[in-house]
Amino acid sequence: VTSIHDIPTPALLLDAALLEANIAAMSELLPGSRLRPHVKAHKCTAIARRQLAQGHRGFTCATLRELEGMAAAGLGHDLLLANEVVDVERIRHIASRDDARITFAVDSSETIAAAAAGGVREVLIDVNVGLPRCGCAPGDAGSLADQARTSGMQVRGVMGYEGHVVGLEDAAERRTRCEESMQLLLAAHAEVGGDLISAGGTGTFDSNTWATEIQAGSYVLMDTAYGRLGLPFVQAFWVWSTVVSVSEKYVVADCGLKSLGMDHGNPEIADAKVWFCSDEHITYAPSRPVSVGDRVRIAPSHVDPTMAYHQQIHVIAGENVEDTWDIDLRGW
Ligand SMILES: Cc1ncc(COP(=O)(O)O)c(C=O)c1O
Repeated sequence: VTSIHDIPTPALLLDAALLEANIAAMSELLPGSRLRPHVKAHKCTAIARRQLAQGHRGFTCATLRELEGMAAAGLGHDLLLANEVVDVERIRHIASRDDARITFAVDSSETIAAAAAGGVREVLIDVNVGLPRCGCAPGDAGSLADQARTSGMQVRGVMGYEGHVVGLEDAAERRTRCEESMQLLLAAHAEVGGDLISAGGTGTFDSNTWATEIQAGSYVLMDTAYGRLGLPFVQAFWVWSTVVSVSEKYVVADCGLKSLGMDHGNPEIADAKVWFCSDEHITYAPSRPVSVGDRVRIAPSHVDPTMAYHQQIHVIAGENVEDTWDIDLRGW
């Protein structure tokens, strides 16, 4: 058995027991098809397999690479690409697999035409519910559904991601703003039809009671931004780093913004104050004496980009490395 003290840094650590606890907590609250876990948070089929084992057969993907990797890993029972694509060749390649059921999000005549040309059989109409990103205007959803049906595709329903709401720290505000967004989605659904109303994320997994399925992803690993929301999930992964320089007021470890998603702010270190990160360094003020060569756990502020920067994650129990999983859905 390898010790965490013997692995090269920076490296990702995953506490196996905490991962299982997060997966179990969520599947108790949102069992089976009430949750369509988003794989973009972890990009790792080994983790997706554990979510499947808890009863979630459908998954959400953000990229064609994630779709392809999930299908190839035998996890293609019901995959949703919750994103717009127009690359007909790649769409055709994935849509022609007979071992995967794949539903594409569409929000325009162009994306409908690309899906139809690529041989896609099933789509969801992606509706803008307030996040300035993909999604059609709610009033256009019905006519886009008609276009998709006329093009020979089945419309399974709607999706609308309230990404501007999931990170709000006040629970009451999250619920109110979520309801506003979901009223838009329900109005669109009334025009579109179909069984699925797909929405939500880790921050709204419980307040979003309007969607038929929740697309949460981060809950499996968590990060310090979601950690502030008081959710029933715990930080289960860290970047493991080595102290390389010690000064009077601060120390420096070998983990910087090239191994940490930083768009939600600085990472956190228990009992220390993080000053800043640069490419390959983190500078922080510890609360007790630290020596060069010591190791330190760094809690990322944003799980998704952190995972995407690494090729592997070490699965640990205490200080032992029990396994190493490939982050095999990386790239595009
Ligand atoms: C389309 C979509 N659905 C759901 C989510 C929710 O993910 P998380 O649970 O990590 O907030 C995201 C995250 O950005 C997303 O882009």
